[in-house]
Amino acid sequence: MTIPEPVVRPWPEAVVPPPLLAGHLHLWLAHLDTWGDVSWENVLSATEIARTSRYRFSVDRDRSRAGRGLLRTLLAEYLGTTPAEVAIETDRFGKPHLAGASSAAPIAFNLSGSAHLAIFAFTKGAAVGVDIEAFAMAPGSAGKPPPRDVRAIAARFAADEAALFQGLSAADATAAFLRIWTCKEACLKCHGTGLQTPLDEIPITFLDDTRGLGRLAGDCFTTRSYAPVAGSIATVAIAGQGMPEPQCWTLVR
Ligand SMILES: CC(C)(COP(=O)(O)OP(=O)(O)OC[C@H]1O[C@@H](n2cnc3c(N)ncnc32)[C@H](O)[C@@H]1OP(=O)(O)O)[C@@H](O)C(=O)NCCC(=O)NCCS
Repeated sequence: MTIPEPVVRPWPEAVVPPPLLAGHLHLWLAHLDTWGDVSWENVLSATEIARTSRYRFSVDRDRSRAGRGLLRTLLAEYLGTTPAEVAIETDRFGKPHLAGASSAAPIAFNLSGSAHLAIFAFTKGAAVGVDIEAFAMAPGSAGKPPPRDVRAIAARFAADEAALFQGLSAADATAAFLRIWTCKEACLKCHGTGLQTPLDEIPITFLDDTRGLGRLAGDCFTTRSYAPVAGSIATVAIAGQGMPEPQCWTLVR
C-alpha cells in the first residue's frame, strides 16, 4: 500500500496579509534566499542575533535570520506594529509565542525551515504547528539531499506505520516517509513537546492525499499536507478534529 501524496501546486504570491479573523488559518511559504541581502540587524532581538550567529556557514545564518525576520514582519502586519517591536518568548520546550503587549492579540503561530524554504502558520486562538521538508530533486538543485535510509528512521514509528514500508520501492518509501514525518512533526509542534515525544506515540491516519489525523494519548490533531514547490512537502496541524480551510500564499518582496 502506498501513502497518497499531495500534488505540486504553487501558492499565489502576496506581499501583505489580509486580516487574520477568528477561525482563519493562514499559511505563508518563503524562499529565504530572496532576502539574502537583508541583514535583519535592526529587526531581530539580541537573542535571535546571537543564536543565528552560531551557524558555521553564512548561508545557514542568513536563512535562519531571514526566517525569524519574516516571522516578525508577518506578525507585525497582523498586530499593526513594527517587526522589531513584536515581543516573542519561547516556552520550556522551545515553542515560540507572543509575549508582553503583543500577546493582547490571541494569535498563535509556528514556523519551520528546510534548506532554502520556510513556512509560517498563523491562527487566532487555536494552537498550530507546521513542518516543511525540502529536497534537491536533481544534483545541484536547491534543497537538502533526500534522506538515505528512511526505513531505519521509520522503525521508530508505530508498528503498523513501520510495516507500511515493507515492499515499497525506494522512491515510494521516501515519499511515504516524508508525508508521515511532516505530519508527526507538525502535530508534535502544535502540541508543543516537539521531538521530545517518541514518534511511535503519535500514529497518523491518512484520510486522503492531503488530510490526516494524529492521535497522542487522549488528544487529536488534524493535518493538511501540501507540496507548494516540487521537492517539498509541508504539513500544518491544529488541535482537535476538523480544520478551517487554510489560506495559502507565497511571500514575495
Ligand atoms: C521543535 C523541533 C521539532 C524543531 O525541529 P526542526 O525540524 O529542527 O526545525 P523546524 O525548522 O521544523 O522548526 C524550527 C522552529 O520550530 C519552533 N520550535 C522550537 N521548539 C518548538 C516546540 N517544542 N514546539 C513547537 N515549535 C517549536 C521554533 O520557532 C523554531 O524556529 P527558530 O529556531 O527560528 O526559533 C525540535 O527542535 C524539537 O523537537 N525540539 C524538542 C523540544 C526540545 O528539546 N527543546 C529544547 C530546547 S528548549
